[in-house]
Amino acid sequence: MTNVSPVAPRVATTPPPLAMVIFGASGDLTARKILPALSDLANRGRLNERFTLIGVARTEWSDEEFQDVARKADASGGATWARLVESFRYVAGEYAATKTFDRLKEVLAEADKNQGTGGNRLYYLATIPSVFALVAEALAKEGVNRPGEGGDFVRLVVEKPYGRDLASALELDAQVHTAFDESQVFRIDHYLGKETVQNVLALRFANAIFEPIWNRRYVEQVQITVAESIGVEHRGGFYETAGALRDIVQNHVMQVLALTMMEPPTWMDAEHIRDEKVKLLRAIDIPSPDEAVDKAVRGQYQAGVIDAAPVVGYREEDDVAGDSQTETYVALRLNVDNWRWAGVPVYVRTGKRLPARVTEITMRFHEVPFLAFEGTLSRDLRPNMLVLRIQPHEGISLKFGAKVPGEAFRVQSVSMDFGYEQAIHDTGMDGYTRLLFDAMSGDPTLFIRTDEVEQAWRIVDPYLEAWAQPGGGLHFYNAGTWGPHIAELLLQRSGDAWREPDL
Ligand code: BG6
Repeated sequence: MTNVSPVAPRVATTPPPLAMVIFGASGDLTARKILPALSDLANRGRLNERFTLIGVARTEWSDEEFQDVARKADASGGATWARLVESFRYVAGEYAATKTFDRLKEVLAEADKNQGTGGNRLYYLATIPSVFALVAEALAKEGVNRPGEGGDFVRLVVEKPYGRDLASALELDAQVHTAFDESQVFRIDHYLGKETVQNVLALRFANAIFEPIWNRRYVEQVQITVAESIGVEHRGGFYETAGALRDIVQNHVMQVLALTMMEPPTWMDAEHIRDEKVKLLRAIDIPSPDEAVDKAVRGQYQAGVIDAAPVVGYREEDDVAGDSQTETYVALRLNVDNWRWAGVPVYVRTGKRLPARVTEITMRFHEVPFLAFEGTLSRDLRPNMLVLRIQPHEGISLKFGAKVPGEAFRVQSVSMDFGYEQAIHDTGMDGYTRLLFDAMSGDPTLFIRTDEVEQAWRIVDPYLEAWAQPGGGLHFYNAGTWGPHIAELLLQRSGDAWREPDL
């Protein structure tokens, strides 16, 4: 008998009618990510005709000014988006002021009446995190945390960072949950919207050959690299309050790691996948702050050269303190204490101003038990590796040994490469586009559940605590290099080395 998923597959090609409200509508995230994603959906015919958008922010804009920004966000100049934009509205006001939300309520009622949005609402918190709770509570006070007349749903999409440590994340959750039920909260991690991150699931669970070797018996070590060549750009002020551990490791790295190392879910649906991710995160060993110091390296970039152009150091960036202690690089050694992974070191690193933008997962397999060829002739042979390249040039490479032609039996490492671009010509939707579509359609699979956020904070909290001590071990590296030298030592201690990504 064929197994049938108890959950209906997603069949809708357009989400239901709804009014979407963006808080932080005049901000950078709205202009760079949210509006382009919405216009992309509209132009692909994946937005309901009865969709409208309401922007809320402190900047004193008129409806027309907001519409102009929305129009400019669509590089393709698509007709569908241009038509929709005419109905967009803007509410200027403080998030702490009741009158902002009184006005929003009126505008929502008008949208239901004029655009037929049917009482359904999707709120998007694209503000600074300190006002998340304020906005959620104000929506409840105004009664707009419930659907309007005839509506089916109200959902709240929340950007990261979700808290700044476990205690603040729990507090934020308690506040958000006074206004919204957990099933209404969609916490975004845009890495989950990336096709190649989802492809980890396809590779593992749609193929029979990988799963049998996906464990401590075959895998010797796992490495995850999230490298960026950009610096903090114009986000110095925000970055000073975050640092690489909060900005990338607590969310993107933990999500990628969980999907790569979790047990097979019973069904590929939201709750089963998220249950397995949480189980995996709970198996990650949590060190005491004292132990954490030895298992981690934090760094900060100094001036250097990227792509042949000189770049300034982190402390010279706008809105960054001249003596900033914020890390722009992190490397950690983690252990996953369960039957599948016990004893397999998991090395993760992320940094800004590294030589290239590359995100990859490497599974390194055990060496052969005995090499029956004369040693000197096989000196180029490295262990088998499976490299899952998330970006750029998305794809998968398998590294293995092959005989070099000639009389002597010389073996060298070669690579068998699968490239998405060459094999599958549809690049799919951008991460934000996909996630917005899912939030509108009510599919939470690619959003983070509260217990995942909490566990990820439990894992990183000891490092934050250790680094908050005076002299918290900050190491410098030149922009354009692979991070502080001491990060090499973190691996050398166990006879390992970072894999140099194929660029
Ligand atoms: C964001 C971080 O979440 O991810 C940024 O806040 C970072 O600092 C970005 O640059 C990286 O995303 P991507 O998709 O370019 O890898």
